[in-house]
Amino acid sequence: MGCAVIAEKSMIPAIKSVSNFKLIAVASRSNEKADRFAEQFDCEAIVGYENLLSRSDIDAIYIPLPTGLHDEWINKSLRAGKHVLAEKSIAYDYHSALKMVNNAKSNGLLLMENFMFQYHSQHQFVADLLLKGDIGEIRVFRANFGFPPMPKTNFRYNEIVGGGALLDAAGYTVRAIHFMLGNDLVVKAANLYFDPETGTNIYGGAFLDNSKGVSAQIAFGMDHYYQCNYEIWGSEGKIIADRAFTAKPDYSPLIIVEKQDQRAAYQMPPDNHFVGSIKEFQRAILTKDFDKHFDQVLLQSKTLDEIRRLSK
Ligand SMILES: NC(=O)c1ccc[n+]([C@@H]2O[C@H](COP(=O)([O-])OP(=O)(O)OC[C@H]3O[C@@H](n4cnc5c(N)ncnc54)[C@H](OP(=O)(O)O)[C@@H]3O)[C@@H](O)[C@H]2O)c1
Repeated sequence: MGCAVIAEKSMIPAIKSVSNFKLIAVASRSNEKADRFAEQFDCEAIVGYENLLSRSDIDAIYIPLPTGLHDEWINKSLRAGKHVLAEKSIAYDYHSALKMVNNAKSNGLLLMENFMFQYHSQHQFVADLLLKGDIGEIRVFRANFGFPPMPKTNFRYNEIVGGGALLDAAGYTVRAIHFMLGNDLVVKAANLYFDPETGTNIYGGAFLDNSKGVSAQIAFGMDHYYQCNYEIWGSEGKIIADRAFTAKPDYSPLIIVEKQDQRAAYQMPPDNHFVGSIKEFQRAILTKDFDKHFDQVLLQSKTLDEIRRLSK
């Protein structure tokens, strides 16, 4: 639903590559775009998102619309009986996320937020090192995601359609800290800077900690030198992931492990996290393993709300 750049470049090829899923149609507001995508991906072109919902041969919908349109179209899709995979950020706030999750639950459907980076094997490599106690006890997790400015016509500079660095870049760092440290984290301080020209938040940061005193520091933005990494500092060493959130399918990310008098650099094998995410969507549907994704959606939106609240 929506002929987005991310759909064209990465997600539709991933959907087509997974057996058991068949791409039936693409929907766009524009005739011309729907036709171009349909020809490129060998499927049907549908004009108007509503017309996708009435189709009885469609079981699941991938939604890469800007966040501000999710409340309407995710809820309509769920009410039409379709499982939903929606791009991050899935909801503008917790209230909206809760409404979506309740809708999915009452219709017996999956609702999943598309944070594909977590399905890249490099993070499992790091998680295994942590589990083995390779760097001792974790003391601090730092995550950074920021990129240079885009044209101001991009929806990311439009608060009305759910733009802003908090819903865009911060989402990755928030998901990463929960992925590595667990759910027991409280936001203690946060800041958001608003661009005076567009009125949109374009960068910020937050500090969180858990009941054991482990802290998490995140920084994010859309007016930055490109950074896409995290660092986990333990009592006996440190792990750095240099391309944590956007490793392309042919890219070998680097994991660096530092300990007293030692420094090892592990070149990770390339992995396609877009395919990993689609496979997880399929697995969760087939095994009805929905709750894990509902919990992720709620935790994510609650944390983003807290950052927004504390930054005022
Ligand atoms: N998970 C990731 O790694 C990742 C990476 C990049 C982006 N994303 C997410 O994917 C989503 C799309 O990002 P993108 O960069 O691919 O954006 P994009 O190319 O601008 O696509 C957004 C699509 O939404 C539809 N749309 C409907 N109403 C719109 C409106 N008022 N303004 C703008 N678009 C509207 C358009 O489709 P039609 O014109 O065909 O109707 C448009 O093509 C965002 O939520 C973003 O956060 C995720």
